Amino acid sequence: MKKLAICAFLVISSLLSAQEKNKYAQDYTKYPNLALTPPMGWNSWNKFACNVDENLIKEIADAMVSTGMRDAGYTYINIDDCWHGDRDANGFIHPDPKRFPSGMKALADYIHSKGLKIGIYSDAGALTCGGRPGSRGFENQDAKTYADWGIDYLKYDWCSSESLSAEGAYKTMAAALKRAGRPIVLSICEWGDNKPWDWGKNIGHLWRTTGDIYNCFDCIEDHGTWKSFGVLQILDKQEGLRKFAGPGHWNDPDMMEIGNGNLTAGEERAHFSMWTMLAAPLIAGNDIRNMNAETLQVLTNKKVIAVNQDKLGVQGLKYKDDGDFEIWFKPLENGDWAVAFLNRNATPKTYNFDWKNNQFTDDEVSKLTFNSSNQNYSIENLWTDKKMGNTNKSFKFTVPGKDILMLRLSPAN
Ligand code: GLA
Repeated sequence: MKKLAICAFLVISSLLSAQEKNKYAQDYTKYPNLALTPPMGWNSWNKFACNVDENLIKEIADAMVSTGMRDAGYTYINIDDCWHGDRDANGFIHPDPKRFPSGMKALADYIHSKGLKIGIYSDAGALTCGGRPGSRGFENQDAKTYADWGIDYLKYDWCSSESLSAEGAYKTMAAALKRAGRPIVLSICEWGDNKPWDWGKNIGHLWRTTGDIYNCFDCIEDHGTWKSFGVLQILDKQEGLRKFAGPGHWNDPDMMEIGNGNLTAGEERAHFSMWTMLAAPLIAGNDIRNMNAETLQVLTNKKVIAVNQDKLGVQGLKYKDDGDFEIWFKPLENGDWAVAFLNRNATPKTYNFDWKNNQFTDDEVSKLTFNSSNQNYSIENLWTDKKMGNTNKSFKFTVPGKDILMLRLSPAN
């Protein structure tokens, strides 16, 4: 009897102390069930850098609707660096009163009224990359402020991070956002420096894998102390990362440069197709109020977008690499596959692909097998909408220089 009483006492007291502990325990995990497919939207940085104000953002929201981009799936209007004014005497951050005179809450209301969502930008250090106030030491206050404004997405940068631990700093913001209680997507932006794919899955919904994109197809821009990278260079840096991506936690190869005046139509197609094959966030970075028909067609190609937004959420794999010519596969729902033939070279490439001699299993992620001997697939060209026969025959085609052929294969009888 005495033993039983002691036992009961021990059990009850350990339960109590667990409860006591929980009262103070931090929840360092991200808000759940967000970004179950790669986020789609727009961000101000690539085109406008620090020149952001509320009129621009409202006009972009209007254009999202009038161009059909919203209906094609683009949701987030993300204001990048330089929206900030000062902190007040109590530490609360305010937007720049000249650029955002109506305040962020009013802007968020406007964006929400269009059926869109709003994103904002901060930094884990004391200053953002543009020298504006960062969130270091103000994480809880900032998260609460964003939630009160109605913010839906936070891009959290890594300038002036000094000796901070990246994992710790992003956990701190994840915990602050969680406590603020609003579903806010957390976009980890530390440029892949601290291998965020190793620790980011439960902390953020996406993580940048590289330094900044540069507006070119195939170049590296040296800024002295740092470099930025063309579309192909960013693509090459995704090697080895596909196993870390999945619903709610994506590799982010940076915002797109489509429509920023430096890519040919073929390069824009290739850029967009490869971002969809990578299951990358599709964040447009151009002035969508003024874009030509070709750019709009690229950004709103619903069949290509469907590859990106496929519910399986499996990042595509590079199946073959002949230097300037690459073949990529991405497993999709219902036994479909997307296939992309990327010509990195300026000369057109004629190729004969025998489906039956190219069977493989995606051992690394989906465990799915592509075997056209067991299953015949019909072929659709996603950029021309043309049906291109089936996989019973070998497939001869030409990809123009610096362009792509992107297909969807669907099981056929
Ligand atoms: C960093 C980020 C960019 C952009 C700028 C803003 O370079 O990687 O995407 O947000 O800061 O200053």
